[in-house]
Formats: sequence, structure tokens, C-alpha cells
Amino acid sequence: MPTANIAVVGLAVMGSNLARNLASREGNTVAVYNRTTQKTDDLIAAHPEAEFVKAATMQELADSLQKPRTAIIMVKAGRPTDAVIDELVSVFEPGDIIVDGGNALFTDTIRREAAVRETGIHFVGCGISGGEEGALNGPSLMPGGTAESYETLGPILERIAAVAEGEPCVTHVGTDGAGHFVKMVHNGIEYADMQLIAEAYDLIRRGTGKSPAEIADIFDAWNGGELESYLIEITAEVLRQVDAETGTPLVDVILDAAGAKGTGAWTVQTALDLGVPVSGIAEAVFARSLSSRLAQREAATDLPGPSDAWTVADPEAFVEDVRKALFASKIIAYSQGFDEIVAAAEEHGWEIQKGEVARIWRAGCIIRARFLNDITSAYAENPDLPALLLAPYFRDALGQTQEAWRRVVVAAAQAGIPAPAFSSSLSYYDGLRADRLPAALVQGQRDFFGAHTYRRVDKDGTFHTQWSGDRTEVEAVDTH
Ligand code: 6PG
Repeated sequence: MPTANIAVVGLAVMGSNLARNLASREGNTVAVYNRTTQKTDDLIAAHPEAEFVKAATMQELADSLQKPRTAIIMVKAGRPTDAVIDELVSVFEPGDIIVDGGNALFTDTIRREAAVRETGIHFVGCGISGGEEGALNGPSLMPGGTAESYETLGPILERIAAVAEGEPCVTHVGTDGAGHFVKMVHNGIEYADMQLIAEAYDLIRRGTGKSPAEIADIFDAWNGGELESYLIEITAEVLRQVDAETGTPLVDVILDAAGAKGTGAWTVQTALDLGVPVSGIAEAVFARSLSSRLAQREAATDLPGPSDAWTVADPEAFVEDVRKALFASKIIAYSQGFDEIVAAAEEHGWEIQKGEVARIWRAGCIIRARFLNDITSAYAENPDLPALLLAPYFRDALGQTQEAWRRVVVAAAQAGIPAPAFSSSLSYYDGLRADRLPAALVQGQRDFFGAHTYRRVDKDGTFHTQWSGDRTEVEAVDTH
């Protein structure tokens, strides 16, 4: 007699926590399956209150589920996910729902959704953000897939999601791979956010000589204002942590080589294909790559730097400038991330509500922040903003912070301190607002060596100068 209304396949920490979250909600009976049955037995034994339904095989899993059978896969992205999908397809029927809750590349999800749809089964790629704690107590959830599958899945996810301003942080993001795509952009913004915070810390530490614990106090103070966010909050915790072995700040004994599982790189690769500048996110990804090139860095340590030692005349004023530069650069990173969402929605035929995306990022996910309320409001006021940063609130914020932002970028450059996310974000801002860009010269260069033609500001058409001849300009005939 099928008694479960939802199943979780894959019981590592994230899967186990998600299963426990599901089981804790009124009306759910959760079936659980793991390739290694011992893991299933251990979870059931550790949490009798969850009243899990054990499935030792995929057939048992299918038999335990009420229709439409719904199973959430929580295994490693890539081949392991494909293997589990194949197993579920073999025991599920048309109308059933397979959900991939991993960090899959959205193009894999598009492929999988098309393949599984052939069987009449729904396939949903669902971004789940918030780490292990979020999976247990309330993540932000970004499901794609069909509207029909959301009719069954939505109410289940709404009961386990984090809640912001009384609303569950879940929405049907869009069809096929839209959910995993938006999760990917979430991670790209996460990279930028983390890099910007790291640059702020580095500049204050090296500019003022304050200790990690003193800088933690600064971040705590910032967390009381417009920068309030999970990442600012945990940064203070990390900076306060003292290494038990050495008695020194933990941040000083951690090897300064950042890892990455790949979602930030995917965000940048996708943006490059879409032609969307995501410079803040890209610099964050590259900063992790540079930090990990330890041999090259070792060989480069004696490269000449600034001749003068760096002193900050007014540390408190400098700290306030850094706070403003951080807020301004954060606006750029989010604006670029939403630009990528707009471009991809157009490319893939998704109807993604940007306000809804901001709304469900207000709690549960890693980039949760007070600031997301302002983004939600900005898109509620004007869903068709040409760019998020052009919303009145953000335009004003940039106006009030741009001078401080410039001072910080100048100080970093003169002090020889790398601030790639701060400085690239400022260049992006200045590029966007410039009335003329040196791209005109680039077009001239391209036409000179490749006859790639150019357009003019004063008349329609495309033109080519006969550089190797009499240098007269001719109207280019469209040869395509
Ligand atoms: C989340 C996180 C998570 C992230 C891992 C690894 O939303 O819960 O973004 O999905 O992938 O924490 O991130 P890295 O790419 O930095 O290794």
C-alpha cells in the first residue's frame, strides 16, 4: 500500500537533511533510498521521529509512493545523476515526477528534461540553496520543469522552504532548465559577493593594521545597515575564529588558495556565450584561479611594487569608504547577474519573473540579504528595468557612493593591493555611463586588418575604408 507522498534518493548530508526537513512538515510521508542501504538504515535509526519509509530498491521506492510518484534526487551532478534518472525512469510511469536537486549545469537539465519527457514522466531541475543547514531548516528553492509538475511539487516545496516576509522562498522559475540556470546565477553572484567582502577585508587589514577580530567588529556594524546579509554575518564569525593549535587568527593559518566546484565558472562561460558582461562575477572566479596558482605566485613574489609604504591618514574615513565601495560593487554584481537572467530567458524562451527570483533569494540561500528586498521592490515597480542598477534606489545609492568607491580603487592601485572585483565593477559602471567608448577605435582596427566594417554615428548603413588603397570609404554590401 503506497503511503509516501515524496521520496529522497541519495542520503549524503544534503539529502538526509532535506529528507528530515520534508518529514518534519505536516502531511508528508517520506520514502528514502540510498545506493548503500546502510546509509538508509542509519538515517532511519537516527531519526525515528521522521517515520521514514525505507526503500531498499528503486522498485520498492516506486511501490511506496502515491501517484503522481515524486522523487528528489540528491546525488553528485554529472554521471551519478544520469544513472539515478535512468533507474527512476525504469520504475516510474507517465505523470510521475523526477526532481534533480543537485547543482547540475542547466544545459544538462535541458537535455535530460527533453529525454525524460519522451517517457511521459516530468523532469524538474531544482536549484536548492542554503547548504546543509538550509536543506534541514529551510532552503531557497528554484524549481524549473513543467507547470503541471509544479502543481504537485510546488505545495511540497513551499512547506519546506525558508520564509521571508511571510512568504515561502520558492517559485516556479520557468520551464526545463530555468531553475538550475537561476541557481547557477545565484552562485555566480555568491562568488562576487564573497570576493568583494574578501577585498574589503584585505584593504582594511593592510591599510589600517586592524586585527581580524577588530575587522569582525566592523563587519558586525555593517551588518546592521544596508549591507546586512548572511555572507557579512558569517565573515565576522570566520574573522573572529582563533586557531586552537597556534592561538592565531584562523584566517591567518588558512592557505590563501580558494577552491571552486564550478558553478561560478559556468555563470561566466554562459554569460560570455550570451554576450553579457558579468565583470564582477568573472573577476571573482579569476581571483580564485589566481590564488590557486601557487607555484606561479611563488615565482612572482619579487616583482617590483609601489616604492612608497602605504599609510591611511584617516582609518575611520577609509573604513567608511570601503563600506561604500563594497555596497556599490555589490549593486553592480547583482545587476550583472540579473542581466544574464534576462538574456538567457530570451535565448531559451523562459518567462522568468525577476522580481520573483529576488523575492525567493531573500531568505534561505547563501546570498540572502536585506538588499534583496530593495531588488524585489525595484522589479515590482518596474519589471522591465533596462538594468537593475538604473532603478531609482540603486541609481541614488551609486551616486552617493561612487566618489568613495573611486578613492578606494585608487588607494588599492597605489598601494599595490589587488582589488579586481572593486576595480572591474567601477570600470563597468563607468563604461555603462560613458557617452563615447573607445570601441570606435576597435571597430577601426578591425576594419583595417579584417575589413570587418563599421557603422557610423551620423548615417545608417555599414562601411569599410579601403585602407590598402586610396583610403576612401565605401558602403559595405551585406554579403551574408
Ligand atoms: C548554495 C551554495 C552551494 C555551493 C557550494 C560550493 O547555494 O548552497 O552555493 O550550492 O555550490 O557551497 O560552492 P563553490 O563553487 O564555492 O565550491
